[in-house]
Amino acid sequence: MSQLTIDTQKIATSRISTIDFENLTFGEQFSDHQLEIIYSDGVWQDPRILPYGPIPMYPAVSTLHYGQAVFEGMKAFRYGDDKVNIFRMDKHFDRFRRSCKRVCIPVIPDEYFREGLMTLIDLERKWVPKAKYKSLYIRPIVFAADQTLGLRACMNYRFYIMCSPVGNYYAEGINPIRLTTMPQFVRAVKGGVGDVKVPGNYAASLYPTTKAQQQGFTQVLWLDAKEHKYVEEVGSMNIFFVIGDSLVTPPLNGSILPGVTRSSVLELANAEGMNVDERQVTIDELISLHEKGELKEIFGSGTAAVISPVGMIKHGERTISVSSEEMGPVARKFYDQITRIQHGEIPDRYSWCTVL
Ligand code: COI
Repeated sequence: MSQLTIDTQKIATSRISTIDFENLTFGEQFSDHQLEIIYSDGVWQDPRILPYGPIPMYPAVSTLHYGQAVFEGMKAFRYGDDKVNIFRMDKHFDRFRRSCKRVCIPVIPDEYFREGLMTLIDLERKWVPKAKYKSLYIRPIVFAADQTLGLRACMNYRFYIMCSPVGNYYAEGINPIRLTTMPQFVRAVKGGVGDVKVPGNYAASLYPTTKAQQQGFTQVLWLDAKEHKYVEEVGSMNIFFVIGDSLVTPPLNGSILPGVTRSSVLELANAEGMNVDERQVTIDELISLHEKGELKEIFGSGTAAVISPVGMIKHGERTISVSSEEMGPVARKFYDQITRIQHGEIPDRYSWCTVL
């Protein structure tokens, strides 16, 4: 399959028998192997596959201090009985490349990323859960590896891909989650790094998210950083609204992450001739649409989150409450279409699947 010869050091005894595939959580168990590619002397060295395990690191390694790092989140699915599918590999690689450029990380050659990943997933194929709606989450990460306390773009980097068999991301499963705005905090500003996948965006969300969770919410619904009124995203997913018969989502404005699942939903909605409106929407407009009965559904999209219905949004003293019991019909339609394409149950018209 691979044109590259990837040096592979296989694990002596697989840990797979210790995994309870019936009760998978998100991102807490890891498969047997990891891919490693090291950047030194101005080039990305040959990829290798190693047993999953600790990586050597000094406390002065730059990324621990200044966060020069990028990650991705992708998934592999069972595709029929004996095949596996890496979903939207190239789209994830495009975003990875863009994120790396933004934080001065030299971009990994295409074939190292693609063939390294495909070789790893081929080796780990038994780790791809058999049950529908479960998957093997794939986490590429690259970070600055110079030992220096000087703030500068580094000359050494380390890239890894690890794999984790996963179930649902939210504790609610696919039942509606609860969001709250937190206008006193912001996730990202235009011109910053909110539109690329860098760890700092997620670190910055932890304090407000923890506060929201202490108040009984699942996540924060982020508003824009300037006027604190335009809805942006959820941090772990993009956000969609069904208003009348239109599908509305905030446009990619420079502070919103261009989600791969977001783009899949938009392509599917456009293909079936749905009214799609990528436009700015304020939280006050949503409240008033809800009061008039025009806001039918709210849902989020993300690789980890897939399609997750939102049952309520709290904004100050006001509350928008939609389907609190189950996924609405529009969210359900996208959830079914996307998961059926991922598992090879309906044709992959858009060439989203890399089948091994
Ligand atoms: C993903 O959806 O893949 C992400 O990286 C989001 C993360 C919060 C799990």
